[in-house]
Amino acid sequence: MPIVNFGSINLDFVYRVERLVAPGETVQTLSQQRFAGGKGFNQSIALARAGAQVRHVGRVGEDGRWLVNMLAEEGVETGDIAFAMTPTGHAIIQVDARGENSILVHGGANRDLTKDALVRVCATLSAEDWVLLQNETNAPATVMALAGQRGSKVVFNPSPLDASVLELPLDGVDTFIVNSVEGRGLSGEAEPGRILDAMQERYPNAATVLTLGDRGALYARDKIRLEVAAESVEVVDTTGAGDTFAGYWLAEMAIGGDPERALHLACRAAARCVQRPGAAVSIPLRSALEPPT
Ligand code: RIB
Repeated sequence: MPIVNFGSINLDFVYRVERLVAPGETVQTLSQQRFAGGKGFNQSIALARAGAQVRHVGRVGEDGRWLVNMLAEEGVETGDIAFAMTPTGHAIIQVDARGENSILVHGGANRDLTKDALVRVCATLSAEDWVLLQNETNAPATVMALAGQRGSKVVFNPSPLDASVLELPLDGVDTFIVNSVEGRGLSGEAEPGRILDAMQERYPNAATVLTLGDRGALYARDKIRLEVAAESVEVVDTTGAGDTFAGYWLAEMAIGGDPERALHLACRAAARCVQRPGAAVSIPLRSALEPPT
């Protein structure tokens, strides 16, 4: 099944630091590198590497042409990525000695997707399509409304979470993919089981996938509850792990439709991602993952 990802595309400026900078503090960095990134971009790469057919809808400046080329080289359809006068979005990412990160995102061209472009793409959607959204572009409100009319299944990763998310027409979402912070923001609950209960109460037609980092991931839809443990690995950089998980999970759902298998595969892919620096570059190929148990 084709997956249409209305997603951000960023330049990631990554700084290694001993520890994340605190308010009012100045810290010397240990190194600096530029990577391809953006939650949408990373998720399209993960989908493609997991074997899914992906169409990416987005917007970049001229400085982002190499990122579009990179998507195309991965087999992602890029015909719906527009070029803007506005510079490509970018992220300033600190990564500390434990591999934890702290990210500042500047939307740039990601926030300039035109309504015309969104309407045009949504008019081609059908009930066979999966639509993927994150919260780094200005697309979610329009796409949620239009994709719902076309009967497409909307998968929403509300990241980064902000107040605008609660204003969205979330009743039409088929699946939420959230981490514990986003789960708490949407449900008002902190404990994983309670997050799932509250999400099911608020959005009874939706599934929720809750990622818990090194504690694995949970899934809930109707009466089905699933739990998968994370693999224990040495962490170098967690950037992009959530995107790797989301892409692999959705690819497996679109291909095979089994949420338990999708959870196993996504956890395994995310565990590989955290063992390398960078976001998109550290997403594994499906062939590099052993079959899920
Ligand atoms: O999820 C990781 C991504 O968040 C980075 O690639 C960065 O661009 C930000 O969007």
